[in-house]
Amino acid sequence: MCGIIGYVGSRETLPILLKGLSCLEYRGYDSWGIATIHKGAIAIEKDIGKVKDIDVPAISSLLKGTIGLAHSRWATHGKVTRENAHPQTDADAGIAVIHNGIIENYAELKNELENKGYLFSSETDTEVVAHLIRDSYKGNLREAVLCAIRQIEGSYALGVICRDVPDRIIAARNESPLVVGIGNGEQFIASDVPAVLEHTNRVVYLENGEVAELSAERVSFFSLDGKEIEKEVHTITWNAEQAQKQGYPHFMLKEIAEQQIAIEQTINERMTDDEVLLPELLMSEAEVKDIKRVIIVACGTSWHAGLIGEFMLEEIAKIPVEVEYASEFRYRDPIVEKGTIILGISQSGETADTLAALREAKRKGARVISIVNVQGSSITRESDAVLYTHAGPEIGVASTKAFSSQLAVLYLLTVFLGKIRGVLPLQQVKNRIRDLRLLPLQIQSMVDDTTEVERLAARFSATQHALYLGRGINYPIALEGALKLKEVSYAHAEGYPAAEMKHGPIALIDKKMPVVFIATKDDRTYKKIISNIEEVRARGGIVIGIVSKGDNEIVAKTDYHLIVPKSSYILTPLLAVVPLQLLAYFIAVKRGFDPDKPKNLAKSVTVE
Ligand code: F6R
Repeated sequence: MCGIIGYVGSRETLPILLKGLSCLEYRGYDSWGIATIHKGAIAIEKDIGKVKDIDVPAISSLLKGTIGLAHSRWATHGKVTRENAHPQTDADAGIAVIHNGIIENYAELKNELENKGYLFSSETDTEVVAHLIRDSYKGNLREAVLCAIRQIEGSYALGVICRDVPDRIIAARNESPLVVGIGNGEQFIASDVPAVLEHTNRVVYLENGEVAELSAERVSFFSLDGKEIEKEVHTITWNAEQAQKQGYPHFMLKEIAEQQIAIEQTINERMTDDEVLLPELLMSEAEVKDIKRVIIVACGTSWHAGLIGEFMLEEIAKIPVEVEYASEFRYRDPIVEKGTIILGISQSGETADTLAALREAKRKGARVISIVNVQGSSITRESDAVLYTHAGPEIGVASTKAFSSQLAVLYLLTVFLGKIRGVLPLQQVKNRIRDLRLLPLQIQSMVDDTTEVERLAARFSATQHALYLGRGINYPIALEGALKLKEVSYAHAEGYPAAEMKHGPIALIDKKMPVVFIATKDDRTYKKIISNIEEVRARGGIVIGIVSKGDNEIVAKTDYHLIVPKSSYILTPLLAVVPLQLLAYFIAVKRGFDPDKPKNLAKSVTVE
């Protein structure tokens, strides 16, 4: 969603804010805005468009000062216009506010404020906050912000500056992420850690209902009732360089290429040759044996990882699993009995629906375990146990390395639970671990040579429709391949279980329709997939096969193919997804789109 960055210190703020904005732009990029305080006035520049298109020389002379706020917007309330870009201010531009989230009672508040004579100049819910603060301001900005947020319902991460207090930033959070970066004689606020990493690796995560008051020298924290509170300072282990492109044209390509290392970092410390170690699960043997059911909740690509996790956990650990869209789970009345584990999967750890689903499950008494990439994010703080993926910062909007790292954690969890529950003998544990160890290098081999996939991307760069079909554990990979293509190249693609094709989608097949089959060689569905390929060929469709190395039988039945190394059935998805990620990436680039910032999307979906 929107990106927030703020700075107070002794350096010129504009370059710091611009750099921070470009780190955060993946969160939202339909418009931007910056405010600084200089010589007793708040200066604001804002516009529609991307951060990279800001005319920096033109705004440099207008935005002087050592304190400021900046915002990149992903529109919720109000169209994409200059007026609706943040910062929003009160009527005389004495208070400037940036906001990520949705003020749910903004219409009532706006009505009340208009009745008091406040004039509105935008369609945003954020402007309400600026007027509310002005309405309560009696010389103490923090008190005024506290008073305003006590009236607000909904989600917000707020940054506020005031002309009359030119050395302070007030920040507040409810349900939208906000971190405070603790520097030396300078302090920062940001929606996400990478935006401040260049300056400090010491951060404090604001919790719901908390407020921070920042001056160059210190940061103080307060609860909603105004009492000062102590907060823990976390040290981040990622460095700023990891959040840069490092010579790659796009983050998406860099992150696809980083899958080897992401998986290694995720698995290496967690296994010996004959054992998986997951102390962070915080469960006794008896509790593991008592698990009756796992419900996985997630959204988007993380939900696809959950579908594969279902195969893993049921087949190997013999635990019944259901996989739910977090957004649906939370609005049903799900049955959560004793012995039910709720497993949330999320790269960002901030997805509003997943967070809400986990809360709902917790309320019903479930043990909540999460698989998350971003340290200290909201979901991690509300889970009973966290299994981190150590994929490093994922900046490209389309999830790639986080997905494969999630699968690696699900696999580790499966082997761990299977062993404790007595359904996985030692030799099988060893074999499973051996298979996993081979995987990072197998992935790397596909990333090292992209000639074939680039050729295919050139051939299909103009395609408007595609079908992705897979069976068994590769069916979620069909969904994921189609999602990747849709989101970065804007071509319409549908993922389907291959056998379901006959029940509808087959009507779409003609000689213009590319059909991507995930047709890796295995004992279960391989023959059936061949029959499905024949059905498509019989209708003139173009068959693109994702095939196992050395499988010439299937190659003969495809028009085009991409080869993946051989692995065990259960690990095949981690390999099969890689050429599909690359295909989507290269098609997007060939079509002239920026795969890191697909239109209408945002990296962390922190609104419902
Ligand atoms: C697609 C993608 C999204 C996310 C989804 C959940 O490439 O990235 O579908 O997977 O928004 O996000 P997280 O995993 O952060 O909860």
